Amino acid sequence: MEDLQHLEASALEKIKSLGSQQDLTQLRSELLGKKGLLGQALRSVSALPEAERPGRGKEINIIKQKLAAALDDAAKSLAQAEREAKLVGGRYDVTLPGRRTVAGYPHPLRLVEEEVFRCLKSLGFTVANGPLVEHDWYNFEALNIPQDHPARDMQDTFFLAPSVVLRTHTSNVQIRTMLAQDPPIRIVAPGMVFRNDAVDATHSPVFHQVEGLWIDEKATFGDLKGILQRFAVQLFGPEAQVRLRPSYFPFTEPSAEVDVGYKTSKGLEWLEVLGAGMVHPEVLKSVGYDPNKVQGFAFGAGIERIAMLRYGIKDIRLFYENDLRFLGQFGGNGRHAPGR
Ligand code: DAH
Repeated sequence: MEDLQHLEASALEKIKSLGSQQDLTQLRSELLGKKGLLGQALRSVSALPEAERPGRGKEINIIKQKLAAALDDAAKSLAQAEREAKLVGGRYDVTLPGRRTVAGYPHPLRLVEEEVFRCLKSLGFTVANGPLVEHDWYNFEALNIPQDHPARDMQDTFFLAPSVVLRTHTSNVQIRTMLAQDPPIRIVAPGMVFRNDAVDATHSPVFHQVEGLWIDEKATFGDLKGILQRFAVQLFGPEAQVRLRPSYFPFTEPSAEVDVGYKTSKGLEWLEVLGAGMVHPEVLKSVGYDPNKVQGFAFGAGIERIAMLRYGIKDIRLFYENDLRFLGQFGGNGRHAPGR
């Protein structure tokens, strides 16, 4: 009797102080294995007087069950402890930052372009594209820019060959579209343009423009002003206004510089945003249209300039450096930069 109580107590003590799964396996076989302590105890039952055997056997079996249950519990808590130890101090450093999935977001220039499209598509404009490497005729001549016009100067234009240039504006798409289609025409033409300018905070030899063209029997200067007003509201908010100042472009007559006015704490502030005008009859003639039958208007804007005004960006170079800390600030639509 006493020897059994002693066996149980010392076994439970050993189970409590187990340090590893390995020790546990070892102890389990010492206690419960075929040659283990309880096995020996059971075998010794046969040496007892007949009458004592059942009681003794029963007692041993009860202890056996208790010890088995205690070993199972110990196995569970050891496994748990080992897992935790591994996480905290082992191969896994749970304090390291995880690997983020970085969601993409649109470039601010793309965002401005999309706003322009949104504003014009509902008016029936479709997107048109043209080549970046352009023949002199489409970039200048057909747009009524004479041979000696300063825009053709070596300082402004990148010439690839005597009459092949990198387009200096998106206005070449006006010519290509009108040559390919009959009126009515309503297009919006975005894209890269090139000027032989030195880089500084407001100049880049490569930048982007967006051009609009509407040719119809009765597309008027009033329609132009209405579209520009929508444009201003779309890009600069519901209180934005437009102001047209007389100006000169070879391909329009009359021509206007378009200012957008928006409210600031200092009052209404006017900023020059784009150029526009009624398409010059010479331009219509150069594509084979009859200026007595059709007329229309065009406008062109620098996308960088609009983005700089709209977002308060002071240096044009930021658009091209692909610094995610910069680019991630314009997500809108709940899109955010990494690390924010
Ligand atoms: N092409 C002009 C530029 O690059 C912008 C422009 C002005 C486009 C007036 C137009 C327009 O279509 O009507 O400076």
